[in-house]
Amino acid sequence: MERGAEESMMNSICDRIYEKAQPYLDTRKNDIHTKISYNFARRLLVHYPEADETIVLPAIMLHDVGWKMVPEKKQLNAFGPKAKDKKTQRLHEVEGVRIAREILVSLDYDAEKTEEILRIINGHDTRSKALSLNDKLVKDADKLWRFTPTGVNIDHTRFDIPRDAYLDWIGTMIDGWLFTPEAKDMARKALREAKSITP
Ligand SMILES: [Fe+2]
Ligand SMILES: [Fe+2]
Repeated sequence: MERGAEESMMNSICDRIYEKAQPYLDTRKNDIHTKISYNFARRLLVHYPEADETIVLPAIMLHDVGWKMVPEKKQLNAFGPKAKDKKTQRLHEVEGVRIAREILVSLDYDAEKTEEILRIINGHDTRSKALSLNDKLVKDADKLWRFTPTGVNIDHTRFDIPRDAYLDWIGTMIDGWLFTPEAKDMARKALREAKSITP
């Protein structure tokens, strides 16, 4: 298939997956997070033509759909710098796998690819090691949004940490959180932008 045709097919698959994911993303600002992380995934894929966009893009769109099954009151203890509730953190991955499977099966998505996407979703927060290059790009795209002005403003507010202190802390996490040098560069650039803006 020609590159142009392949690209438009991927775009239409992404549209259909996103349409099905959307009803699960209206919690924890996941609609905003997912869009920003999806754009980072696309930017990272440009640097890694050997990665598989048919795995990375569905995985990033679907990785957090499981939060919809967690009551909003319980969510705040299950992610972020003060997260204590590891059971709930794990629950959003398990429920995410279940919902993502339903969505991908309903779209007749390739079975082998579906399994790889689900393996990535299954450990996207609780597994610190990456299983593959595809997994690395999903993990990087997921975390990158935290460094953007939008991510910083949402997170420092909901974690109840003063903005300046939050900006200092998150700057120390770049090397520990991110796998690829390109993602680290993107994080530094996003953080510089966040720092330059006085909300
Ligand atoms: Fe997550
Ligand atoms: Fe996420």
